[in-house]
Amino acid sequence: MTIGVCYFPEHWPDERWRTDIEQMAEAGIEYVRMAEFAWSRLEPERGEFDFEWLERALELIGEHDMQAVLCTPTATPPRWLVDEHPEILQEEPDGTTRHFGSRRHYCFNSPEYARETDRIVERMADHFSDHPVVAGWQTDNEFGCHGTVRCYCDDCSRAFSEWLRERYDDIETLNEEWGTTFWSQRYDAFEQIEPPRHTVTDHHPSLLLDFYRFSSDSVVDYNERQLDALKAENDDWFVTHNFMSHFGALDSYDVSERLEFASWDSYPTGHVQQQGEPSVDELLAGDPDVVGLDHDLYRSAANAPFWVMEQQPGDINWPPYSPQPAEGAMRLWAHHAVAHGADEVVYFRWRRCRQGQEQYHAGLRNADGTPARGYDDASAAASELEELPALSNVDAPVAIVHEYDNLWALDNQPHAPEFDYWSHLETYYRALRARGVSVDIVPPTRDLSSYDAVVAPTLHLVDENIADTLQSYTEDGGELLLTMRSGVKDRANKLLNEPAPGPLADIVGATVTEHGAPHPNMERVLEYDGETFEYTVWNERLELESATVKATYQGGGAPGTAAITQNEIGDGCVTYCGVWPESELADALISTVLDRAEIPSTDEALPTNVRAIERDGYTWVTNFSGEKITLDLPEHASIIQGDRRVPEYDLAVLDAPVSSIQVERK
Ligand code: GAL
Ligand code: ZN
Repeated sequence: MTIGVCYFPEHWPDERWRTDIEQMAEAGIEYVRMAEFAWSRLEPERGEFDFEWLERALELIGEHDMQAVLCTPTATPPRWLVDEHPEILQEEPDGTTRHFGSRRHYCFNSPEYARETDRIVERMADHFSDHPVVAGWQTDNEFGCHGTVRCYCDDCSRAFSEWLRERYDDIETLNEEWGTTFWSQRYDAFEQIEPPRHTVTDHHPSLLLDFYRFSSDSVVDYNERQLDALKAENDDWFVTHNFMSHFGALDSYDVSERLEFASWDSYPTGHVQQQGEPSVDELLAGDPDVVGLDHDLYRSAANAPFWVMEQQPGDINWPPYSPQPAEGAMRLWAHHAVAHGADEVVYFRWRRCRQGQEQYHAGLRNADGTPARGYDDASAAASELEELPALSNVDAPVAIVHEYDNLWALDNQPHAPEFDYWSHLETYYRALRARGVSVDIVPPTRDLSSYDAVVAPTLHLVDENIADTLQSYTEDGGELLLTMRSGVKDRANKLLNEPAPGPLADIVGATVTEHGAPHPNMERVLEYDGETFEYTVWNERLELESATVKATYQGGGAPGTAAITQNEIGDGCVTYCGVWPESELADALISTVLDRAEIPSTDEALPTNVRAIERDGYTWVTNFSGEKITLDLPEHASIIQGDRRVPEYDLAVLDAPVSSIQVERK
C-alpha cells in the first residue's frame, strides 16, 4: 500500500522536471500518473506524434525507482481534430452542441471518434509496450464527468435504435413491453425512436430507462475498445478507470467487469457539499460514510482492492465553498482509503497549476514548487503505510444490493421531493458502518451466498430471477432486509399487475395495500419494539400473510397498521421495512439483523464521524471529527500507529478486531 501523485510535466518547463521528480521520490511516492489530457502535446498535428517528452519524464521517474500509470488522452480531443470532424461533438437534449473549449466534448457513439480513439491509443500502446517504467493504464478520464454519459446527437439516435432492435427484435415487442398506447406513443419502426430530446413534458419512463441503459452500455463499449487496444500490446499491464463519487449515470459494475481493479477520485470536502447540509467537521474533513460508500462500491465493482486515482490534496476549485481542509485531513483520507481496501492513493496533483481552468486547485506543492499543506500529510502517509505488511482485501460479512437500473427508474419518478436512491442506501450503510461492520456494495446478479446478511434497499424493478436468488439466499439461512418501494415494477419500468412487492411477496409474507409520500408537516412516527421512532419521505401499509408485525404506525392516518414485518423462511429470515427510517430506527433495525446473523460489531453506535474499519485483522479508527476520542482496548491489542488518545482529524491503527474496541468522546 503506497502513495502516488498525478503529474503534468507538459505544464512546466523541462528544466524543472528533475527537481519535481526528485522531490516526489523524497516524499515516498511510488506511482506517477500522467498524460490524461495531453493529446495536443502527443500529436500536435495529425500523424505527427511526439512521445519524446513523455519518454524523458518516464526516464526520470525510473531513475528514481518509481513507476508510472499512463492515461489515454481521449477525454480532450484537440482543436485540429474537432475542426476536421465537428460531428464528434456531443449534443444537448435541445440540440445545442457541446463545443470545444473545456473537456469531454466527444460523443461515445461517433464512428469517427472511435477511429480516432483507436489511432491514438494503439499508437501510444505500441510506443510504450515494453517500457519498464509503465506499470499500467488508466483509460480516458472520469467517463461521464460534467454530465456527458448521455448525448442526444444523430449518431446516438442511430445507435439507440440499433440497441433497441437488438434488445427487442421486433417493434411490436417493444410497444408491448414499454406500453406505448399511453398518449399515442406507438412506434412502427425502431428508426423512429429518438433519444429523449427536448419535449413539452415528461418522456415515457420506459424510453428513459432504456436510453439510460443504452448510454451506459455505449461507455462500456467505448472503454473496452481502449482496453483491447492496450492489452493487445502488453497483456501484463493493468488497465483501470477512474470513477467518480456517487455517480449515477454509468454502471460501474459493467465497466469494471474487465478491469484488473477499479479506481475512483476522492474529494471529500467537495462531495459532502453535493449531499445535503454538511456540518463544520464535514466541510473540513468530509463525511467518512459518504467517502466510505464510494470506497466500498468501487472495491466491490471489480471485486479487488481499488485505487484512489485522485485524492484531494488541499483546497479545491469546484465546490461552491472551498475551506482549507483540517490539519491532517489529507493523511487521514489516505489511511481511511487503505482501511476500506485501497492499495494505492494517488494525490491530485503534484503542483498547483499556473494556467487554465484549475488555477484555484491546490497541489501537494505550490505553484512556485514549495511544499503546500498537503505535502507533509502525503509523505507522512507514505512512510506510515510502508510500515504495514501487504494486506489482503476486505472481507465483508454484509452486502448492500445496489443497482443502477433502480436508480435510473427512481430518479425519473421519485414521487417525493426528498427521495434519492443514494441517500436511501446511505441510511442503512451508515447504520452498518456505525457498528464497525464492513460492507460490500453489489449488484443483484452477484452471488450472495457468502454474506451473513444482505440489505437490499428499494429493489424497485424486479423479475422472477431476482426473487429466486433472494428466496434461495434466505432459505439457506441468510438474513435479508428488504425495504420500501421494492417489487413495484417490471424490468421495462411498468407497474406490475400484482401488488408490491410483486414476486417478492412470497418471501416477505406480506403485501403493500397503499403507499404514501407524507409532507414533512405530517406526523411520521411508528412503534417498533415498544418504542416510538420517526421515519421520513415514504410509508406503506402492509397486509400480512405469513409474516409477523414488528412495527405499527402511530397516528398519521393509519394507526395500528403494520409498517415493518418479519418472515422466517427455511433457515433464514426476511425483514421488510415499509418506511424510510430516521437514523435511530435504522440503527435499531440493523442491530437486530446483526444479532440474528451473529455478525461481530461494536456494542453501540460509534460517535458521529468516527469510524472503526477492519481489513485483514487490523482496525483503523478514523476520527473525522473536531473532538478528541479515547479508545478502550482489550489487553492483548497492540497499537501499530497512533495512540489510545486519538486527536481530531487523526487516526490509530490497531492489531485487534473492531468488536473488541470501545470509543469514547473525551
Ligand atoms: C477531477 C478530474 C481532474 C480534476 C479534478 C479537480 O474530477 O478528474 O482532472 O479536474 O477533478 O478536482
Ligand atoms: Zn452522440
